[in-house]
Amino acid sequence: MAENKLWGGRFSENTDAFVEEFTESVSFDKELALYDIKGSIAHVKMLSKQGIIPKEEAEKIIEGLNQIAEDIKKGRFQWKRELEDVHMNIEKALIERIGNIGGKVHTGRSRNDQVITAFRLYLKEQIQEIIELLIKLQKSLLKKAEEYIDIVMPAYTHLQRAQPIRASHYFMAYLEMFNRDIERFRDNLKRVNELPLGSGAVAGVDFPIDREFVAKELGFSSIMRNSIDATASRDFAIEFLSCSSICMANMSRLSEDLIIYSSSEFNFVELPDKLTTGSSIMPQKKNPDVLELIRGKTGRVYGDLVSLLTIVKGLPLAYNRDLQEDKEPVFDAVKTLKGSIIGITKIIDGLKIKKENTEKAAGGFALATDLANYLAEKGVPFREAHHIVGKIVAYLISQNRELEDIKLEELKNFSPLFEEDALNLLSAYVVADRRKSFGGTAKERILQQINYWKEKLQA
Ligand code: ARG
Repeated sequence: MAENKLWGGRFSENTDAFVEEFTESVSFDKELALYDIKGSIAHVKMLSKQGIIPKEEAEKIIEGLNQIAEDIKKGRFQWKRELEDVHMNIEKALIERIGNIGGKVHTGRSRNDQVITAFRLYLKEQIQEIIELLIKLQKSLLKKAEEYIDIVMPAYTHLQRAQPIRASHYFMAYLEMFNRDIERFRDNLKRVNELPLGSGAVAGVDFPIDREFVAKELGFSSIMRNSIDATASRDFAIEFLSCSSICMANMSRLSEDLIIYSSSEFNFVELPDKLTTGSSIMPQKKNPDVLELIRGKTGRVYGDLVSLLTIVKGLPLAYNRDLQEDKEPVFDAVKTLKGSIIGITKIIDGLKIKKENTEKAAGGFALATDLANYLAEKGVPFREAHHIVGKIVAYLISQNRELEDIKLEELKNFSPLFEEDALNLLSAYVVADRRKSFGGTAKERILQQINYWKEKLQA
């Protein structure tokens, strides 16, 4: 019989050391320990309620499990690699602590439904924490939007100056993007929040178990209806990684913007010293490493998604050991995502906009659209108006002048329709506030949006 193994009965030799090393997962799945214990306690309560094991024995098992949980929390639990995974480690420790009745914890249960129950409990909690962190990030963006309502900056398309916007409009764009991330995670949570326990190894359980009771104990909102599906499916985790990837992509874009905006070339944004790092050789440098790492770590999280998608592709139903590989990508994504959200929130809280610079960049030729619209309002077909203003731009560029420098007489040379009031348009603030359409950058519209979000976020 294989020594030390809970499943050693049918084996006549000890497990090869390489196999122990290669197949173990406790080095990483110990992350699930407290969720595993929670699942076991609910299971044992149910076994006792159903008369499957005697009440006194259930009490002993639960007490043993609680003591083990204390040891784990205090960091004094001895994890043993040869016991393979977190579940076997805990069960073995239970038996050592309370004797052979500890083995009754596994009555009417398989590791296949046990592991996925712990994993779902873990992920439920993580998603809730991630949503909380994203809401904090939204509140920070909202605060910046309020603070910077009277600052204009250029909006870019093709990374060329396009049109003036209020800086608040920019921050609120990301607030909206992160809101969709939150919605995606909330939706994912519905599918994570289903109880697989009670499915056994694959076909169900032959003891008179009560799955409703276990679902209630563990706070799952529903029970998985098919034992094969319950033990073999990992789409809830793929979905989580997919939500995480999209969220990282959004944070990566924000990071990239701020990296560009804080460069000397743009000089729009000052990042706080305490959130940047210096160079070992160039004394003048102040590097946006946190933002760069968020951008870089986005690649990791995409990798996590592709890993799990690939693991399940072509995997025959139901449980296969391949599925043990589901955990590390999810743990990695959780850690990376949480760190990135915390990092970007700190950056948003601490950044300062350099008003003189954004204001200057928001003017000039970024005002050209409105000059064309002026002519269009006077009946010139927009295409033609566009062409006329294009000529004005070329004329000024050739003289190394800005749009704001132009005189009314000069404008009239390009079109007699230009009047005194056309010159009023040569201000980024005026132009921004003309965009009064719903969703536009006019101050009154942004204030409406800010109020909407203040109410929604109770900020
Ligand atoms: N450590 C395994 C996993 O993470 C637990 C399930 C093992 N089940 C089995 N039949 N070998 O998937």
